[in-house]
Amino acid sequence: MRRYLEVYERSLRDPTGFWAEAAEAITWDRTPTVVLDDAEAPFVRWFPDGRLNTCFNAVDRHVEAGRGDQVALVYDSAMTGTVATWTYRELRDEVARLAGALRDLGVETGDRVVIYMPMVPEAVFAMLACARIGAIHSVVFGGFAANELATRIDDATPKVVLSASCGLEPGRVVEYKPLLDEAIERSRHRPERCLVLQRPQTTATLVPGRDLDWAEAVAGASPAGCVTVDAGHPLYVLYTSGTTGRPKGVVRDNGGHAVALAWSMRHVYGVEPGEVYWAASDVGWVVGHSYIVYGPLIHGCTTVLYEGKPVGTPDPGAFWRVIADHGVSTLFTAPTAFRAIKREDPDGRHLLRYELDRFRALFLAGERCDPDTLHWAEDKLGVPVIDHWWQTETGWPIAANPLGIERLPIKPGSPTVPVPGWDVRILDPEGRECAPEEIGAIVCRLPLPPGALPTLWNADDRFVEAYLSRYPGYYLTADAGYKDEDGYLFVMSRIDDIINVAGHRLSTGAMEEVLAAHPDVAECAVIGVADELKGQVPVGFVVLQAGVDRDHDEIVAELVEMVRREIGPVASFKQATVVTRLPKTRSGKVLRSTMRAMADGEAWKLPATIEDPAVLDEIGEALERLGYG
Ligand code: COA
Ligand code: AMP
Repeated sequence: MRRYLEVYERSLRDPTGFWAEAAEAITWDRTPTVVLDDAEAPFVRWFPDGRLNTCFNAVDRHVEAGRGDQVALVYDSAMTGTVATWTYRELRDEVARLAGALRDLGVETGDRVVIYMPMVPEAVFAMLACARIGAIHSVVFGGFAANELATRIDDATPKVVLSASCGLEPGRVVEYKPLLDEAIERSRHRPERCLVLQRPQTTATLVPGRDLDWAEAVAGASPAGCVTVDAGHPLYVLYTSGTTGRPKGVVRDNGGHAVALAWSMRHVYGVEPGEVYWAASDVGWVVGHSYIVYGPLIHGCTTVLYEGKPVGTPDPGAFWRVIADHGVSTLFTAPTAFRAIKREDPDGRHLLRYELDRFRALFLAGERCDPDTLHWAEDKLGVPVIDHWWQTETGWPIAANPLGIERLPIKPGSPTVPVPGWDVRILDPEGRECAPEEIGAIVCRLPLPPGALPTLWNADDRFVEAYLSRYPGYYLTADAGYKDEDGYLFVMSRIDDIINVAGHRLSTGAMEEVLAAHPDVAECAVIGVADELKGQVPVGFVVLQAGVDRDHDEIVAELVEMVRREIGPVASFKQATVVTRLPKTRSGKVLRSTMRAMADGEAWKLPATIEDPAVLDEIGEALERLGYG
């Protein structure tokens, strides 16, 4: 631990010296002379007088430094059987032309651009093109429904939306354009223009006067150069689930973000420029932003964009094929992907078909990594399997086994230790620090390091209220857990209503809002129950309005359809049941955690404040009918 502790302690003792050194990995248009400005704490600005361009750092500077012929981006689509590559020079030219097309549409520095796209290389070009001209992108995951897209369009008020005719899911073509049209129809804000990429699988109908064909717009554009912006200028807004149906717009700045990601590539992931790094996620999630696009490119790596699944496209050897074909050194994915592979190929037979000679490490995040999955992956792959913990808000890992500093012994169930820069503490409800092994709220002492969210989009008050007010002086992660005697962190559960379904972060509160809108529903509760493959899945309980005597199966089918239509298929909301009452405290609070413990077959105590214990018998029976408990 010595080397790690040295670096960690220095990062907390002398944050400005530490991050000033890290900032040397970035090419600045104006080198910052001030590292941290906390005059308006709790709002802080890293590198306040620095100026830079993130696209220049991710692309152009590598061409200028002699990496022009190195492959920057590999697109591997298991869905279409396509492999294509772009060198850093080719990537620069693509991005510059698309940036020119955006400029021709009137997009200026500071304008927002919503990107609603599948896993195609144009999605990467789009993010970088926005960064190039100082526009602020907001990528919306393709598995969200029109309503979620509309909410984001209203909050981000984009001038332009970039989209595609379709995404590809196993067995179906997901037409994006009707979803986009419906979202714009539902939103109060109207984007001026939509640029639509026509994929060969389906051709979208364009709305005259508003929609433009992507290929034509790019063909007619002249390349745009990199616009220099302040370090604190927003690079992107990424919406993530909050406790209500209204998502939170996490803001990422340009300067702190570039410094933190460059530092993490070397020190957390232990990757060198020129190596091949693959994050098997989606550009719509923070993992995709940080470790498909910006991190590996800023660091001069080759990044892989994979359109496909871990299984079924065509088999559970899909990941090994990609690693072998492209010489991947480091893979980052969610444990659920490995549970899926393990379920279909428990003996790892598909591994025998591939040479994984350059593969050095597997990183897992997005949900708690169960020890079974960890051991299986270690055993079959013979490389370090690193569980690490972070959030959309933090942008890069809070806890990890920092391979680039020192490889620490692995403890199953723990994402190892706090990453330098993150002063992680465990607090009890009164704000006192917990003893080792004692569970409490996981918080980070302020100021947060570079790269973490400076605020929420157009919602400074919500930022303070959601993250900084529960324990003044600390950022509330909303995860609960403990540290052991060796300082290893264990992240156990959320303290809010967020659940993790196949590594996707979802709000049960948002699903309850959808169910409550059904005319037959009087009240409802959604809980996340343990699922062998997805980690958790949502289950709904509804109480019907007095006098409703319709068939329950019919109502349940309508509820399932409503969540799919309003939130999206990614919610995996497939189970609901009708009950006569919900268990509540005497003050009327629904006892969701008791219901969840019952569903997961965990020990639970009868809450002292319960209004009527008999209600739990009916919940127990309902869970049994659904196959839980
Ligand atoms: N566009 C449209 N629909 C999408 C979508 C997208 N980008 N991504 C997922 N969906 C749909 C799926 O088709 C599925 O629809 P269905 O209900 O009609 O089957 C639904 O959303 C749920 O998708 P998913 O969570 O991917 O479940 P799955 O059963 O299709 O696959 C796994 C299970 C484990 C193979 C898959 O979840 C997986 O690969 N997970 C990796 C997790 C990951 O990358 N997490 C990101 C954070 S690192
Ligand atoms: P997201 O913002 O989608 O990245 O989700 C962040 C949340 O996922 C965290 O607050 C945790 O609840 C959970 N999470 C992510 N990584 C881990 C991990 N390694 N162990 C446990 N939980 C995790």
